[in-house]
Amino acid sequence: MNKNRAARLVGEAQRLVGARSTPRRGRGLSIIASSSIVQANMSQRPEITITFAQSLDGCIATSTGDSRWISSDETLRLAHELRSEADAVLVGAGTVKADNPRLTCRISGHTSPLRVILDGRLSLPADSLVITSAHETPTYVITSDRALKKQENKVLQLRKHGVRLLTLPGGDGNGGDSDKLSNGGGSGSGANNGNNPDELSLHSVLELLSAEGIQRLLIEGGSGIITSFLRAGLFERLVLVTAPLIIGAGIPAVGDMGVRKLTSALKLRPATPRLLGPDLVWELYRE
Ligand SMILES: NC(=O)c1ccc[n+]([C@@H]2O[C@H](COP(=O)([O-])OP(=O)(O)OC[C@H]3O[C@@H](n4cnc5c(N)ncnc54)[C@H](OP(=O)(O)O)[C@@H]3O)[C@@H](O)[C@H]2O)c1
Repeated sequence: MNKNRAARLVGEAQRLVGARSTPRRGRGLSIIASSSIVQANMSQRPEITITFAQSLDGCIATSTGDSRWISSDETLRLAHELRSEADAVLVGAGTVKADNPRLTCRISGHTSPLRVILDGRLSLPADSLVITSAHETPTYVITSDRALKKQENKVLQLRKHGVRLLTLPGGDGNGGDSDKLSNGGGSGSGANNGNNPDELSLHSVLELLSAEGIQRLLIEGGSGIITSFLRAGLFERLVLVTAPLIIGAGIPAVGDMGVRKLTSALKLRPATPRLLGPDLVWELYRE
């Protein structure tokens, strides 16, 4: 694409974005910054918000996986609002196993998003709430071709509950040890060194969701998923809740980002947090 055409397209996108830059449905948080939407649209993926609640010392759960509830009732409501403004909410299989969440929006009059579980090995229990309630609130499970073939019984059980199974070739991540954070161009989950035959490319996952009509994606965890998306630079907005707790040796919200020098750390635009109940809420955008 020549430079003039690219500049024209960006200009057009910015004008369109300008038309929708007011907060949706009068919510407390402002909608994603316009430049970020341009970036997401041009890369054929949904706009991504990552959200999680952590302790003051950066843990999203205790060492036993207990995370309910790190934050207060006020911020739980915010989590439900974020769900209702998204087309889909995505978590990893680890969160389903640890928390058995419903991932619905339980504010009256608000709709629930589609639920998406990233599960390369198809290891999530078939009696999980996101599975058994799939007839009421749609659930997609994204897994590897290999797992689909190996786990015939699980596939039957999931389909019986109305779960939609989407597959991708496994072994496509590129975890690695890079000292550079990707600018949205990496594809690794950061969960391993690229040797996992069931690891799916995050870019392929996002393309799949985009093709399904998902324009706004909310990522709710857990640690592996948060780390993968942050590390790959695949997000526009981070809504971070910090509760006045110290957990100590718990599960860190963010694992190894491959950052070896401070100059390579992921930088976010400075923002002022707001107090919600006893918690601090940060709404942060990439620099
Ligand atoms: N405080 C909060 O806001 C909050 C929110 C959510 C969760 N949590 C906590 O977070 C903890 C769970 O974190 P976690 O890191 O264990 O689990 P996770 O991030 O939810 O899930 C990780 C799993 O997802 C699958 N996965 C991730 N990336 C993949 C990829 N690229 N391709 C294929 N599969 C992929 C893998 O499943 P397989 O290994 O089965 O293939 C991986 O083991 C729990 O203790 C939970 O309570 C806290």
